[in-house]
Amino acid sequence: MTAAFALRDATARLAAAGVPDPARDARLLLAHALGIAPDRVLLALQDPLPATAAARFDAALAARAQRQPVSQITGQRLFWGRSFRVTADVLDPRPETETLIAAALQRPFARVLDLGTGSGAILLTLLAERPEATGLAVDLSPAALDVARTNAESLGLAERATFQQSDWLANVAGQFDLIVSNPPYIAAAEMADLSPEVRDWEPHLALTPGGDGLEAYRTIAAQAPAHLGPDGQLMVEIGPQQGQAVAELFAAAGLHTARILQDFDGRDRVVAAKRRI
Ligand SMILES: C[S@@+](CC[C@H](N)C(=O)[O-])C[C@H]1O[C@@H](n2cnc3c(N)ncnc32)[C@H](O)[C@@H]1O
Repeated sequence: MTAAFALRDATARLAAAGVPDPARDARLLLAHALGIAPDRVLLALQDPLPATAAARFDAALAARAQRQPVSQITGQRLFWGRSFRVTADVLDPRPETETLIAAALQRPFARVLDLGTGSGAILLTLLAERPEATGLAVDLSPAALDVARTNAESLGLAERATFQQSDWLANVAGQFDLIVSNPPYIAAAEMADLSPEVRDWEPHLALTPGGDGLEAYRTIAAQAPAHLGPDGQLMVEIGPQQGQAVAELFAAAGLHTARILQDFDGRDRVVAAKRRI
């Protein structure tokens, strides 16, 4: 069987399973099965599909038909131009989180704290972009910390990144120029509306703190100011409807000049505030 025939079959199989963009995902999974970059698939289409690749493709399609995200099947996600290992223990880094990266890189920093690091995408990107900086990443999940450590190794950043299990800042010591976080922020009532890819496959600890979705911001607002150095900045990702509420939490915690920043689609996505000096 040629790869082209297998790809046509695969697209129909994913479409029948209700996968939203079956042709794109079939192509990505074929590339994964062949061990080639997605932009090389076209060149391989007229070749026969080797038996090992066919078996790999079949397993990947079966997983995708169960609505497992492509990134978990391939084990990779590109974020800010770098490849991160992704497993079912971590949030799949989202393009909108690049808004937080862009905002953080507007200012100098030497010491960074990333709260709820997951795959390590935020801390490791910031360290890669600022070769003099060092950082601490915390997460409640030991399995997520293992993934983040693997990413630090593969990106050559392990010497500048430390990882620690902590319930937000409970086990954190020291002061930082920059504290960043993309905490779980989906309200409990919104969980049922998520796509199966997110609701059934991503860790719930990464998605929701329960209740109104603001609990992590309350804790971070209460705990972070004591760990901000002079002129230190706190920056968090938010859901598009949460800007005002989070800015008010930060102001009530004694932080000032809270700004709400938009993502590439014009939605509120980041709240940034400074320590009052
Ligand atoms: C939305 S994910 C963000 C992951 C990653 N920073 C990113 O942006 O792709 C939230 C992360 O917070 C972690 N988390 C949830 N509750 C926590 C807590 N109480 N203390 C520390 N981390 C927590 C989760 O395990 C998860 O890795």
